[in-house]
Amino acid sequence: MLDLGLPPDPDGTTEGFAILSEILKVHPLAKIIVASGHEARESALKAISEGAYDFYKKPIDADEIGFMVERAFKLYDLEVENRQLQEKKENTPLPGLVTASSKMEEVCSIIERISPTAVSVLLLGASGTGKELLARALHELSERKNNPFVAINCGAIPENLIESELFGFEKGAFAGAIKQVKGKIELAEGGTLFLDEIGDLPLPLQVKLLRFLQERVIERIGGRKEIAVDVRVASATHQHLEDHIVEGRFREDLFYRLSEIVVNIPPLKEREGDALLLAHNFLNKYAIEFDKRVKSFDREAARAIAAYDWPGNVRELENRIKRAVIMSDSKRISLEDMEINYNDDHVETLNLKEIREKNDKTAMIKALSLSNGNISETARLLGISRPTFYGLIKQYNLNIEK
Ligand SMILES: Nc1ncnc2c1ncn2[C@@H]1O[C@H](COP(=O)(O)OP(=O)(O)OP(=O)(O)O)[C@@H](O)[C@H]1O
Ligand SMILES: [Mg+2]
Repeated sequence: MLDLGLPPDPDGTTEGFAILSEILKVHPLAKIIVASGHEARESALKAISEGAYDFYKKPIDADEIGFMVERAFKLYDLEVENRQLQEKKENTPLPGLVTASSKMEEVCSIIERISPTAVSVLLLGASGTGKELLARALHELSERKNNPFVAINCGAIPENLIESELFGFEKGAFAGAIKQVKGKIELAEGGTLFLDEIGDLPLPLQVKLLRFLQERVIERIGGRKEIAVDVRVASATHQHLEDHIVEGRFREDLFYRLSEIVVNIPPLKEREGDALLLAHNFLNKYAIEFDKRVKSFDREAARAIAAYDWPGNVRELENRIKRAVIMSDSKRISLEDMEINYNDDHVETLNLKEIREKNDKTAMIKALSLSNGNISETARLLGISRPTFYGLIKQYNLNIEK
């Protein structure tokens, strides 16, 4: 805790602020609580924007400051833990992928195990979960890595163009075909072909793709000869292909060809601890990219990142942090910078006292109802004496009158 003592001088070079900045230089994760009695609001804003953890207006109240320090310790522990996880992740086998979650580590290990093989892989995951990143990792880890990785988004190309995009065409194949053009499949020779949004592939092309997967040869549009192509196929979708099959929108035989191995990618909210880990990662990345001095998240922002559902998964998290880094003027990203609609009530408490109290109350209410409000019986069920029971009722302010 740093006692500024003096009011800040007009050019902002107060000794206290200089110390604040020196401490943060030596130990960037230090939680500094600044106390000042003068120009409270101005000092508070300046201290926080200089990287202080919190501001305290004198006179000092021991309980209040105790509470503040306790929370600072918790945040510090969390940040240190995140750092450690981040360091651990640097050993991650998959290029560019950040995770410390056991579910994702399982996904990574599947990708690692199948990368040397030629099996077709279907990556299933909601939007922004990292389908393309994993497809690229699959390629990078394989012996095909020095050959092309070619991605095609079947949902983004107009139906009448997908065929020529995939298979290419010969000169004169149709009006406007002024020269021969190779398709994506052929361009991926020796490498990996990534068929993104495979659920959007029109039925006629599903037939043509199936033929390629079976025979491993293609014919360019307007071409007469078969061309053998050696590619590894990875595809991805956020849709339920089984439903599409039932509805006749997706061919079952193609589904089985594409899904020799299916990899289910969990949404971000199911990856314990990953949201904060990724957030720190993106913060560092974009602070360097945009030459910003922002170093961390403030308490509310950190809690919100951990508690938010992230419906748009890693992509949403990355975009929000990128925007926050660009917009931020201080060393810490605030909850407002993140623009997350977040309510503190949803956060699970880790405070042991609060957890015990909650459990005590639940047990007391249960015991009361089981014993029909009979106090002696309730106390017996709880394994405590009647006076202790009355003491707890008073302590927790419970209303037990029927
Ligand atoms: N585990 C991760 N670690 C680091 N960056 C990640 C991770 N997962 C995803 N990203 C990043 O998040 C963004 C979205 O990932 P990607 O494009 O692979 O997702 P997607 O599932 O293909 O999304 P969409 O359905 O929107 O196409 C990319 O910038 C990617 O680099
Ligand atoms: Mg994608």
